[in-house]
Amino acid sequence: MKPTGVKIVAVGRHVPERVITNDDFAQILDTSDEWITSRTGMKRRHWAREDEATSDLAVVAAQRALEKVALTPNDIECYVVATATPDYQFPATASVVAARLGAANKPAFDVEIGCSGFIYGLIVASSLVRAGLYKRVMLIGAETLSKVMDITDRSTAVLFADGAGAVILEASEEDSLLSSELGADGSRPELLYVPSGGSRKPMTAQGLENHEQYAKMHGREVFKFAVTKMIDATDIALKKANLSYKDIDFLIPHQANKRIIDAAAKHLDLPYERVLINIQEYGNTSAASIPIALGEALDAGKIKTGDVIIFVGFGAGLSWGAIAWKWVA
Ligand code: ACO
Repeated sequence: MKPTGVKIVAVGRHVPERVITNDDFAQILDTSDEWITSRTGMKRRHWAREDEATSDLAVVAAQRALEKVALTPNDIECYVVATATPDYQFPATASVVAARLGAANKPAFDVEIGCSGFIYGLIVASSLVRAGLYKRVMLIGAETLSKVMDITDRSTAVLFADGAGAVILEASEEDSLLSSELGADGSRPELLYVPSGGSRKPMTAQGLENHEQYAKMHGREVFKFAVTKMIDATDIALKKANLSYKDIDFLIPHQANKRIIDAAAKHLDLPYERVLINIQEYGNTSAASIPIALGEALDAGKIKTGDVIIFVGFGAGLSWGAIAWKWVA
């Protein structure tokens, strides 16, 4: 089949209703609004209800994307969900989402690579379209990280949050995907991981007592890695596309820490208005953070045809990736 280009035709987003402020954490943990704001840039975040799962958020984001272009769930030929917090260890959350939308027999699978999930997912989903396999693919970055937060651990609980962002990718004569750079190094999974509940260490009563069902992170090491990899991956993606820093219209980074984003923006010599930051409202929503930021920018009318966007992220793995993407209407 003849290879084709790919473009994004719609973005939908959804966050749970419940808002947790820095002051809410200060009431239960040894922390403060001042510490969280100055060290991370976060002010608020949304956490799901106890009975709200990742697929619940994903379904609403997907419906909103479909409404924008008046498509039905069965117009989508394949569903991909990027998540580190699936509904179940198996089956894939994507198959649950497709069925809930009313598209039960469509191919559906998950991509699991932590906060780099949307970046990897965008390459996988775009490749399916470019190879001519499907004309329309939906990619949803969706997370309920609050479910793996240890509410007694101030070094992680304040950072992570819940949300979903869905993009519809469509075959296009003009290709949006200019270049990409992906990487992963799993030599030290413990830098950011959930220790128990997988095949390495199935959950036990002792594990539960030790809070091993929750995410653990070496924040300082992840921070250093994140700054380096965001810059390197962006540099390489730009080079592969024969672009320079000056060609970037918008940097849409994974929203993990404002200081990490500031360091990358400074290296790229990008003015503030070209770097999309919403971390103050949502915290770190992992695979959902980039599509949520993209959706907000589109709704605000910021992005125009021909704009060059750099999507860049990093996360558990450790993993990283950058994509140079030309906006095609
Ligand atoms: N409130 C008050 N104090 C705190 C808090 C808190 N919420 N959290 C940590 N501290 C304390 C620490 O205990 C430490 O105290 P100590 O010196 O007495 O030991 C002190 O603050 C400094 O700790 P650092 O870890 O050095 O603080 P740092 O400035 O590095 O900020 C942070 C910590 C925000 C976690 C930062 O390292 C960071 O953002 N790292 C990257 C994390 C990240 O991006 N993770 C997402 C990866 S993506 C994914 O896949 C999910």
